[in-house]
Amino acid sequence: MLKGLLFDLDGVLTDSAKFHLQAWSQLATQLGITLTPAEREGLRGRSRLDSLNLILAAGAQEDRFSAAEKTALTDQKNAVYLKLIQTMTPVDILPGIPQLLKDAQAAGLKMAIASASRNAPTILDHLGLAASFDAIVDPATLHRGKPDPEIYQQAQALLGLQAAEVIGFEDASAGVAAIKAAGQFAVGIGDARLLAAADYLVKDTAALQLSQLQAAFAKESG
Ligand code: G6P
Ligand code: MG
Repeated sequence: MLKGLLFDLDGVLTDSAKFHLQAWSQLATQLGITLTPAEREGLRGRSRLDSLNLILAAGAQEDRFSAAEKTALTDQKNAVYLKLIQTMTPVDILPGIPQLLKDAQAAGLKMAIASASRNAPTILDHLGLAASFDAIVDPATLHRGKPDPEIYQQAQALLGLQAAEVIGFEDASAGVAAIKAAGQFAVGIGDARLLAAADYLVKDTAALQLSQLQAAFAKESG
């Protein structure tokens, strides 16, 4: 029986994923690295350090920087990102999300945030959504980033639920892989070709409806 919803944040509740990609592209350019569209897409959902390492690998620069220099580079990216998100308001919540959260609350579902971003609490404040969730995974407690299932397992545990009782929502293929590796039902939001591993796919958040999600979940659980 469906008892909880686990949400990624960037690209699911709001379009902050585009700001992450913009800030990373700026850093890549500075390092003399041009990312292909697939490499850019592959950064979605990846932790801060994993993202930098993927960019360096794309430019065959894996060994160029020390750990301390990498921290300076990720700090620099984060400063750019923080500037980009500072004007966010509740208007920036993606279509369909307010109604979904309202319907889920009315249905008694518990809700958690499973975002790798250390900026997630700041964004939730900007969006006026901080009080809508029962739990937020603290990414500082994680050992491995998406596609590892750890973050979704922890979100589920924070709600006191089982894998068969939750739905996870993701815009990233690494995120859908994490949900599936946690043994949970995955909703993919975005390009069907990239998110084919999801149990249920929508083009965008406007297409999310709790009654339809409940029906798909019930069918899958038999
Ligand atoms: C999310 C985003 C990623 C980002 C990661 C870390 O997973 O989808 O693009 O790299 O969080 O975010 P942070 O805000 O802590 O750098
Ligand atoms: Mg995301």
